[in-house]
Amino acid sequence: MTDRVHAIVLAAGQGTRMKSLRPKVLHAVGGKPMLGHVLDTAAAAGIRQAHLVLGHGADQVQDWLATRADDALKSVIQRQQLGTAHAVLQAMPDVPDTALVIVLYGDVPLISAATLEALIEAAADGFALLTVTLDEPRGYGRILRDGAGRVTGIVEENDATAEQRAIREINTGLMVAPARRLKRWLSHVGNNNAKREYYLTDVVGLAARDGVSIRTVSAASPEEVEGVNDMLQLARAERVFQRREVQRLQRDGLYLADPSRFDLRGALTIGRDVRIDVGVIIEGAVELADGVSVGPYSVLRNVRVGAGTRIESHSWLDDAVVGSHCIIGPYARLRPGSLLGDQVHIGNFVELKKTTVGDGSKANHLAYVGDAVVGERVNIGAGVITCNYDGANKFTTVIGDDAFIGTDSQLIAPVTIGRGAYIAAGSTIAKDAPEDQLTINRARDQRAISSWVRPRKR
Ligand code: UD1
Ligand code: MG
Repeated sequence: MTDRVHAIVLAAGQGTRMKSLRPKVLHAVGGKPMLGHVLDTAAAAGIRQAHLVLGHGADQVQDWLATRADDALKSVIQRQQLGTAHAVLQAMPDVPDTALVIVLYGDVPLISAATLEALIEAAADGFALLTVTLDEPRGYGRILRDGAGRVTGIVEENDATAEQRAIREINTGLMVAPARRLKRWLSHVGNNNAKREYYLTDVVGLAARDGVSIRTVSAASPEEVEGVNDMLQLARAERVFQRREVQRLQRDGLYLADPSRFDLRGALTIGRDVRIDVGVIIEGAVELADGVSVGPYSVLRNVRVGAGTRIESHSWLDDAVVGSHCIIGPYARLRPGSLLGDQVHIGNFVELKKTTVGDGSKANHLAYVGDAVVGERVNIGAGVITCNYDGANKFTTVIGDDAFIGTDSQLIAPVTIGRGAYIAAGSTIAKDAPEDQLTINRARDQRAISSWVRPRKR
């Protein structure tokens, strides 16, 4: 059924009320541009062909599209925004006559795949409109019906009589129509109306006049068809989206200390008994295995966490893999390329970057470990720094299993610390340290000056 469906996505409008340099459809909901939601939902509904109508900010939108590598997506530029019918017309040359067209909007991000499927099904080979009944229909096109309840047309607010304005069933803008006839109807649409625009809605009246029966489908909720025109509506769409996602995750068994203080800006996969405290932000692809707990105000972006691991409050994990039964944080920072084994402890104010840490190793306080390969059961003391950067290039530090790095030591890379090596506190290590020995490098002559007098305030 959906094989023949081509979506035409309108996204040429300026979005003046956003007061933003960014094209409206690139503003994000749940971390993804609104246009991305629309395209993904269309794909989820089985629609394989999509045509984008771009105008304002087309370059920026096209740059973003290039990152999606979607071959089935075509875009056309609508140089002047002369109205929704004119916009749809721009895409029609690329749409085969045998297709069924569904019109979507880049700024209506919360539309569901189920609704699109219902609309396509209702259309069969004919015409279908998505409508919704609102208590406050102001601003929308109103659905006109005859005495028998058949749709006869749509009248825009600005062109409506007082009586028509009292109609509460409104046009969401989404519609399905057969391409061949749609092309013909579009060619008959004029702009003799209040806004001097070519209204797509006029197609409905033309179809009705041709004796085409126009079926209507009611949107599941007004929220899913709400357009975004300003920052207030964007924030509202964000909340609706978050509520929807949270409920889905809760039904999957996620414990959230407070669902209104949780933000998902990507895809979260969870095992059983995962617990998330307040203020947590999930970005990109995040996987939390059974029994993982995430403390308050942590940010996890593109992270995989093994079973039973505890991430304590205010930790920042970015592009990292954490094994099982680890303790991370509070206040830990795992930067890209941090790969942790099992039972690893990374404590407060410890930063890792591009570093592998073996099972059972610990860096519990105040350390920077970058470009390093750390073995198993290693202890990294407070204040240890890998000096990985000489101002031009980065070098690797290798630390063997069971090594002990005393507090406040600097490991000047490239350098290798042997298995079981013991680095004395306060050492600057610029040469490889042998296995199973104490290596120490600090000023020797600690002195006490007996004649010293403490300065006094004058
Ligand atoms: C439109 C409908 C109205 C419906 C409402 C739902 C028409 C004539 N009216 O009104 O019945 O209730 O949507 O929100 O269709 N666009 C272009 N190129 C253009 C004009 C518009 O791409 O030349 C895009 C806009 O960026 C926007 C969408 O089409 O995303 C709708 O256009 P807009 O001008 O907002 O139409 P409305 O007046 O809201
Ligand atoms: Mg609008």
